[in-house]
Amino acid sequence: MSEHTLVTIGVVGGTGKEGAGLAARWARSGYRVVLGSRDAARAQQKAEELNAALGSAVISGADNPSAVQQADIVVISVPYEAHAATLTGLKEALQGKIVVDITVPLEPPNIRSVNLPAGLSACLEAQTILGADVRVVAAFQNVSYTHLQDSEHPVECDVLVCGDDATAKDEVIKLAEAAGMKGYDAGSLVNSIAVESLTPVIMYMNRKYKVKGVGIKVTGIEQAK
Ligand SMILES: NC(=O)c1ccc[n+]([C@@H]2O[C@H](COP(=O)([O-])OP(=O)(O)OC[C@H]3O[C@@H](n4cnc5c(N)ncnc54)[C@H](OP(=O)(O)O)[C@@H]3O)[C@@H](O)[C@H]2O)c1
Repeated sequence: MSEHTLVTIGVVGGTGKEGAGLAARWARSGYRVVLGSRDAARAQQKAEELNAALGSAVISGADNPSAVQQADIVVISVPYEAHAATLTGLKEALQGKIVVDITVPLEPPNIRSVNLPAGLSACLEAQTILGADVRVVAAFQNVSYTHLQDSEHPVECDVLVCGDDATAKDEVIKLAEAAGMKGYDAGSLVNSIAVESLTPVIMYMNRKYKVKGVGIKVTGIEQAK
C-alpha cells in the first residue's frame, strides 16, 4: 500500500485538461482523487474514463462542493475568469485545507503577454478571498497539460512551489514528485506573481518555436548536492 493512500486530493475543475492530467498521475501514484465539476455527472464520466485507462477505480467524480468536502488537499483548476467566483462559492468548505492554486491569470486574447491582475497574482487573490485559515500554495502553472497525458512517463519540467506555510509547501512538493516532476520550494506566496507570469512567456515561446511543451528546468541545485 502506498503512503499516499490516506490522502485524498480534490480537483475543482478536474474535468478539464490540466486537472484531469494531474489527477491521473496522482491516482497512478497511490493518491485517492475526487474530480470536481459544476456538474457531478460530468465529473463521474471523466472519472470513469480515467479509471478505465488506469485499470483501477481510485478516481471518483462529484460536484465541486462535494469534492472539496471529501478532500484533504484541494487543487483549483479553473480558468481565471471563473477563479474568484469559484473560490467565493467554496470558501466555507475550504476552511482549514491546503489549497493548491494552479490558475494562470491570462487575459484573452493576449495570452502570450504577462497580465498582472488587480491582486497581483491569482494565488494572492485566492488567499485574500479564502482568509488566513486556508493555506494557499502556488504550483504547476508552468506545466503544459500536453506533458501530463502520457502518465507512465516522467515530465521533463520542474515545478516552482510558493507559499507561506512550510508544511503545506512540503505536501505540494510531494505532489509534484508523485506526478513525475521535481518540485522546488520557490519562496513565499508573493513569488507566485513571478511564477504565474512565466506561463504567458512559455506560451509565447511555444508559438515562436512551433512546439506545445516548453517548460522550465531548475539548474544549480541538484548539481551542487
Ligand atoms: N492547460 C494547461 O496546459 C495549463 C497549464 C498550467 C496551468 N493551467 C491553468 O489551469 C487552469 C485550468 O486549465 P485547463 O486548461 O484545464 O482549463 P479548462 O480545461 O478550460 O477548464 C477546466 C475546468 O474548469 C471548469 N470551468 C470552466 N469554465 C468555468 C466557469 N465559468 N466556472 C466554473 N468552472 C468552470 C470546467 O469544469 P466543469 O465544466 O466540469 O465545471 C473545466 O473542465 C487554468 O487556470 C489554467 O490557466 C493550465
